[in-house]
Amino acid sequence: MMDLFSQIEEPEREELLALRKELEEANYKYYVLNMPTLSDREFDEKMHRLQDLEAMFPDMFDPKSPTQHVGSDLDKGQRTKDKGQNGKAFETVKHKYPMLSLANSYSREEIEDWARKLPAGVEIVCELKYDGLSISLWYENGQLVRALTRGDGQQGDDVIANIKTIPSIPRHVVGTPSSFEMRGEVLLPWERFEALNKEREEQEEPLFANPRNAASGTLKLQDPREVARRGLDAYLYYMLGEDLPGTTHYERLQTAKQWGFHISDAIKVCHSVDEVMAYIAYWDTERKNLPVATDGIVLKVNDLQTQEELGYTAKTPRWAIAYKFPAEKQLTLLKEITYQVGRTGVVTPVANLEPVQLSGTMVQRATLHNEDFIRQLDIRPGDRVWVEKGGEIIPKIVAREKTKDRPADSKPLSTLSEAVYSFPTLCPECGAKLVRVEGEAAWRCPNEAGCPPQIKGKIEHFVSRKAMDIEGLGEETIDLLYRQGLLHNIADIYDLRLEDIAAQERLGEKSAQNILDGIEASKNVPWSRVLFALGIRMVGETTAKKIAKQYNTIDALQWATAEQLTAIEDVGPQIAENIVRYFEDMRNLEILERLRKAGVQMEGEAAEEPQSDKLAGMSIVISGTFSHHSRDEYKALIEAHGGKNVGSVSKKTSFILAGENMGPEKLKKAESLGIKLMSEEEFLQLISE
Ligand code: IVH
Repeated sequence: MMDLFSQIEEPEREELLALRKELEEANYKYYVLNMPTLSDREFDEKMHRLQDLEAMFPDMFDPKSPTQHVGSDLDKGQRTKDKGQNGKAFETVKHKYPMLSLANSYSREEIEDWARKLPAGVEIVCELKYDGLSISLWYENGQLVRALTRGDGQQGDDVIANIKTIPSIPRHVVGTPSSFEMRGEVLLPWERFEALNKEREEQEEPLFANPRNAASGTLKLQDPREVARRGLDAYLYYMLGEDLPGTTHYERLQTAKQWGFHISDAIKVCHSVDEVMAYIAYWDTERKNLPVATDGIVLKVNDLQTQEELGYTAKTPRWAIAYKFPAEKQLTLLKEITYQVGRTGVVTPVANLEPVQLSGTMVQRATLHNEDFIRQLDIRPGDRVWVEKGGEIIPKIVAREKTKDRPADSKPLSTLSEAVYSFPTLCPECGAKLVRVEGEAAWRCPNEAGCPPQIKGKIEHFVSRKAMDIEGLGEETIDLLYRQGLLHNIADIYDLRLEDIAAQERLGEKSAQNILDGIEASKNVPWSRVLFALGIRMVGETTAKKIAKQYNTIDALQWATAEQLTAIEDVGPQIAENIVRYFEDMRNLEILERLRKAGVQMEGEAAEEPQSDKLAGMSIVISGTFSHHSRDEYKALIEAHGGKNVGSVSKKTSFILAGENMGPEKLKKAESLGIKLMSEEEFLQLISE
């Protein structure tokens, strides 16, 4: 214990731990939720800092650190509407060759640094860096047999049914070696992306921030027909396997093109950094005319023998590097600063701009982040500012143009006593006095129960997919119902009548009925998700699950003390305090009582007891499709009888629960290891004996 404390006293060690956490979270938001929170550049800068800190403190090495592995898109089996209840939609399969990432560079100097480490005179292939998600395609005897996402780099999800909907990916090829792998990028073309977002807007569904997120969300859908409708495309850029033709990367790609693969025409063999820079300069502008998103270029050593000699680090090849295009920036006039109150009460300063064209769209509002940001950059109305659109949907101000043409009468954001121009002290929506929590950059409106955006935000959160999942009740409808006084808090949802909803503009009886059905169905949502849906500050999905497991009823939770709560994993003093405060507020207690009366689940089911220990100690792989039960049900049955369901076949596998059309790789592996295949009938027989 002593040791740990003395370590943590050094601020850099704390910074290291905080960075690991932040980058892990950013990876999760990027790869799993498809909602990026950091720009690539910010991410890389933080990653570099973490690498430096880890070099400073070798004793803090951790193989789980984000510096040691690539981000993961693996489907962890959370329930979403696209999957079955608690279902894992795709089979997770180990990659034959790990899927690595690329080191990034942002300047000529960084490219030169990389090139210096290569043998003199090597050829460098320049390619476009397509901004989609990587895919690994396996061909056996000319047939496409597997299509894996990158996953965590070691294993990925098999999304072959969805990949087969992409017209530019061949399902059969001829004249190829008997087995090989092609890697490439799956993309949603700009045109399709815009059409999809327009459609989602009309249906009040959340928009995708960029084509990459849209492609990623699409590839993980459960319905291949919907995937086909969205119109994905793919470019291939890497061939792997044994006894492949050619001695250079370039040759191989040209061969792949002859086999029928979609290979970009923008590939160039370069002989100097000058030539590379010319390629970059050309494509930095020309890429705007391409049908798909690109975010940089990739440089690869052409000669395959040299590639092999250069080898790999834990995360990236040494024979390749990415160069990232700078995010597009524009200079424009800051006309006025207004303030926007978010769903959680945070007040964000917004720059109202002279409209300017940026990455294909007209921008007239951008975030100024917070008070400190404005002060540090001394930004004032009338200034000329740089606005940038990164990977996020909301543009941001990144700098002030420091020329002399600032209006003579402009004043810095001052304190109130100077009374010239200051950050508001009162909420612009409801007039409550704003508070600034110590250690946070944001000013917040504390009037949770009376401030319109916060009221609506709480309701939106409550009905969202991961919470009560009430379909049809979108942002606009909530706004309409709120303004008519029909919806003021989450409990009001359960008092809505058909005629209230059907009377709304744009909402006919049919959609009204749909909403009512959704509300009815939400009464079956389990207690742990109800707890998450309540929107207690900092109680996220995972924390809610952990709390609900410990406190099986809301009554038990209501009487828990902060001290008792902090005994739960993941619950720190701040979260505990938020929970205690939530239950101290009479208004919340009233709402909870109304929810209970409406039939919302306020208690968990008793934990399921194992039904037997017939499968105790066994590791069982499920493969193929079944007729008596779903895969998920079989998984539950295995667990209920004391067994463990594992993803891949190994020596330790006890048997394979084999359905129809079992994967060929698994079959081969099972045969070679002599592992028994069991039919579903045999399995059901075994557990019922
Ligand atoms: S080569 C071992 N080539 O960029 C290296 N990757 O940031 C394999 N990407 O995971 C990657 N265009 O998803 C390569 N022309 C290209 C690419 C490309 C896009 C993606 C790929 C990779 C990521 C790394």
